Order: sequence, then structure tokens, then C-alpha cells
Amino acid sequence: MPRLIVTRRSKIHGNGVFAAQDIPAGTQLIEYKGRRITPKQADAWHDEMYSGHTFLFTLNEDWIIDAGTGGNSARWINHSCAPNCIPYLHDHPTDRKKDRVIIEALRDIRKGEELTYDYGIAFDVPYTARLKKIWACRCGAPNCTGTMLKPPTHERDTTA
Ligand SMILES: C[S@@+](CC[C@H](N)C(=O)[O-])C[C@H]1O[C@@H](n2cnc3c(N)ncnc32)[C@H](O)[C@@H]1O
Ligand SMILES: [Zn+2]
Repeated sequence: MPRLIVTRRSKIHGNGVFAAQDIPAGTQLIEYKGRRITPKQADAWHDEMYSGHTFLFTLNEDWIIDAGTGGNSARWINHSCAPNCIPYLHDHPTDRKKDRVIIEALRDIRKGEELTYDYGIAFDVPYTARLKKIWACRCGAPNCTGTMLKPPTHERDTTA
């Protein structure tokens, strides 16, 4: 079975993951693997917030996946404002630590296209110019918002 995806240098940032052949919409591509840490452990997201670089994926309220340890090539998939993939959460029936994230093709993807998904990252702090610069988006999509960040969680309208 020829492999579906391959890791190489990306025009968006550092390493990226690319389609090694045409991929139909809905194909399960790869699991986002890594050690499970609690949100409090090492204040995980706080440290990442001012670095602009992360291998963290928020799994649920209790667990974060840290692909910096035990991660696979899913950790090289970049963010885009016009993503061609989506991370799906697969709930474990009894243990939230065992919930899994599988990256799927959101649409048909041509061989050679870079795989991307929307990171959906938001912090609960005011977005200073410094923070916006740290998290500037370079996805190159026509609808690029210029930032990898979603509106701060404390500013979200929860009345809908
Ligand atoms: C999970 S890693 C993806 C792999 C990354 N390219 C690398 O080589 O380490 C996430 C980091 O990649 C960078 N990145 C991903 N998407 C980006 C984008 N659209 N614009 C700018 N940087 C991006 C950011 O530093 C982000 O924190
Ligand atoms: Zn963008």
C-alpha cells in the first residue's frame, strides 16, 4: 500500500505534511499522537503562548496531547485559514485520557498539496501587538485572517 502522506519543508513554516497521492474527502489520514498531560502540568499552554510554537493539542477539559514526546508526523501539520483537513475527536467510552484525535481530509486533496487544519487556538488574555506578532499566520490563503488565533475566550458571545 503506497503511503498517503509525506513530511518535508513547507512554505508556510518549517516542516509540513503533504499528500503523497490524490486523497479523497473523508479519508482518515493520521492520528495526532503524543503523551497526555494535564492543563496544569508545566502550565503547558502558558509557556507556548509566548513562544508561538506549539506541539500541544487540547484534547478535552482534562487532557492535552503533547506531541513533543511520543508524537508522530501529525505534529508537523501546519495551520491554515482555508484548511483541507479537520481533526476529529473520537471519544473513549469510559476514559477521557484515551480520547483520540484523527486528522481527516475535509475535501478531495491533490497529490503534492500541503495538509492543513484550523488549529482553533484561543487564549484567555488580551491580544497585545506582541502576541499577535508571535501568532501571525503565514498560510497564504486568500481569506487568511493574518493570525492563527481565534477571538480571546473571554470576549466570546455566549448568548447564542
Ligand atoms: C504543530 S507545529 C507544525 C509544524 C511546524 N511547521 C514545525 O516545523 O515545527 C505548529 C507550529 O508551526 C508554526 N505554524 C503552523 N502553521 C502556521 C501558519 N499558518 N503560519 C505561521 N506559522 C505556522 C507555528 O510556529 C506553530 O506553533
Ligand atoms: Zn492564515
